[in-house]
Amino acid sequence: MKNNAFKVVRITDTTLRDAHQSLWATRMRTDDILKIAETIDDAGYYSLECWGGATFDVCMRFLRENPWERLRQIKAVCKKTPLQMLLRGQNILGYKHYPDDIVERFVALACENGMDIFRVFDALNDPRNLEKAIASVKKYGGHAQGTISYTTSPVHTVEAYVKLAKEQAAMGIDSLAIKDMAGILTPGAARELVGALVKALPDMPIQVHSHMTSGMAAAMYLAAVEAGAGCVDCAISTMSSFSSQPPCESMVTILESEGYDTGLDQKKLAEINAYFRDLKKTRQPASSAKVEPVDAGVLVHAIPGGMISNLRSQLAQQGALDRLPEVLEELPKTRADMGYPPLVTPTSQIVGVQSVLNVLGGKRYGMVTDETKHYAAGYYGRTPAPIDKKLQKKLVGDLKPITCRPADLLKPGLAAAAREIPAKLIKAEEDILSYCLFPEVALGYFKWRAQPVDAKDPIPADVEMQKAATAAAPAPAVDAETVRFAQIGKAFAALMAMAGGGKVDISAVKPGEAELLPLQAEGSDKSTASTKETGGTRSVASAIPKGTPVTAPLNGTFYRSAGPGRPELAKDGDDVKNGSPVCIVEAMKLFNPIKATASGKITFLVEHGKPVTKGQALAVIA
Ligand code: CO
Repeated sequence: MKNNAFKVVRITDTTLRDAHQSLWATRMRTDDILKIAETIDDAGYYSLECWGGATFDVCMRFLRENPWERLRQIKAVCKKTPLQMLLRGQNILGYKHYPDDIVERFVALACENGMDIFRVFDALNDPRNLEKAIASVKKYGGHAQGTISYTTSPVHTVEAYVKLAKEQAAMGIDSLAIKDMAGILTPGAARELVGALVKALPDMPIQVHSHMTSGMAAAMYLAAVEAGAGCVDCAISTMSSFSSQPPCESMVTILESEGYDTGLDQKKLAEINAYFRDLKKTRQPASSAKVEPVDAGVLVHAIPGGMISNLRSQLAQQGALDRLPEVLEELPKTRADMGYPPLVTPTSQIVGVQSVLNVLGGKRYGMVTDETKHYAAGYYGRTPAPIDKKLQKKLVGDLKPITCRPADLLKPGLAAAAREIPAKLIKAEEDILSYCLFPEVALGYFKWRAQPVDAKDPIPADVEMQKAATAAAPAPAVDAETVRFAQIGKAFAALMAMAGGGKVDISAVKPGEAELLPLQAEGSDKSTASTKETGGTRSVASAIPKGTPVTAPLNGTFYRSAGPGRPELAKDGDDVKNGSPVCIVEAMKLFNPIKATASGKITFLVEHGKPVTKGQALAVIA
């Protein structure tokens, strides 16, 4: 790709990975890819990004496909163009650090199954989280592409990025990517950064990756190329723009007008585009119709688009969507407190959920998720800027902070994982790696696969499509990373249940303050059940005893205790004190203790485990 003296610029096609992850909730299927793979292989791309990121999880979870089989099938057709994947360093494709033996074996098998170029990145840009993956790629004969996860902050200077690039060069990377996941890299900053990198590492090929979220990416690519970048990431036009990559056809024309040759065949590109324009009719989720072509807000707050939609759905489920502006204001403060991590999985989820809690909890860091705790204690790696010592102590709690490479603390895990899977479900060694990354999802898929051909449960993605075709207002497709976002909230709920739930002050969410909104994304969540079911409880209102009511501050599920097996917070007829927690309303996996509004004898009006609506009387105190 590095051949700028001859004015050659190459293009990587992201249509088969990032583009559908950004636009179609990763729902492109292997068959969809195979029908057009030969034409794509003939077009003249530098490489085809077609694996990694969220595709692995979604293949098994929603499409009931074997991701390894997808890789082998693409490789069998695409013999001319190198295949490329996105690898999250020590996190591989998951959300936590894996032991070195799992990282190495995953890379070895990916190489064996046909992967050529590995773009290896770390959310914190901690080189210690990249070293094992890069060394493994080199060992098994792949092309190791190092990565700068681009963000802006007082500590993310050009000098700091050059230092990071040099550290990765010393690890033996073959090329370097600038990964602008939020689409915030400006043409001016790109010219400066690429120029400094070319000066410091004159022989290092540089590739630039961005998203059109803010509308700047095509202009930025041209500036980066003029400064010496040799390759840029684009998607075929139908699969481009919005939160995806810039359109390939347009970028080719822009570059040609400046005298650069991309080697791409526009006729083939038109053929590829016609195919995806047709496929889009059945694969694009209905929710995408609501997406704005350009989110100019990104230019102001620099928060990736996908992250905002996650925050929105989390707040909507708590009937607190009106507090989104407060959360968007809180988020940069939480990020600064946490040492300015780039906002990309998993740090985007950690900072996002913590910001929501900082707003809804009424008190900043009054509630701290398990992930925040581990992050502050160094278990995700070194933070770009140090966390204030006093705050770190508060966040970490009883956890022991570490300064070593996080994966050094992990024992080899491959053999133990292999023993955990029922032998009859394993068909190949690749299955063990799938299980290591996503244990429950992989087991679900293995069990589905083991069902007789004529008696298989329906494919979740097909069920979604049928629902979308028949429902008046179809639910948007849920993305694997949205599921993860909800899981952090769930881990927090478990924490609260263990703590007895008594310490949380959620008085910040006052009855009547938050509006009831139609619940959207996480359709599988029980707490989002139709509010119609609760109508019956209200109709008996005339029969309830007189006194001061205790009302639900949010839509959610009513509980008498703070978790399974735990005692009821108050019994019917108990004398309760004003301000003491008497019951729970669970919303979006957060357990919210509800306090007595007066002192006296309490009578409950709702059954344990029933859905409740905001403002509904849960109990009266006489
Ligand atoms: Co991307």
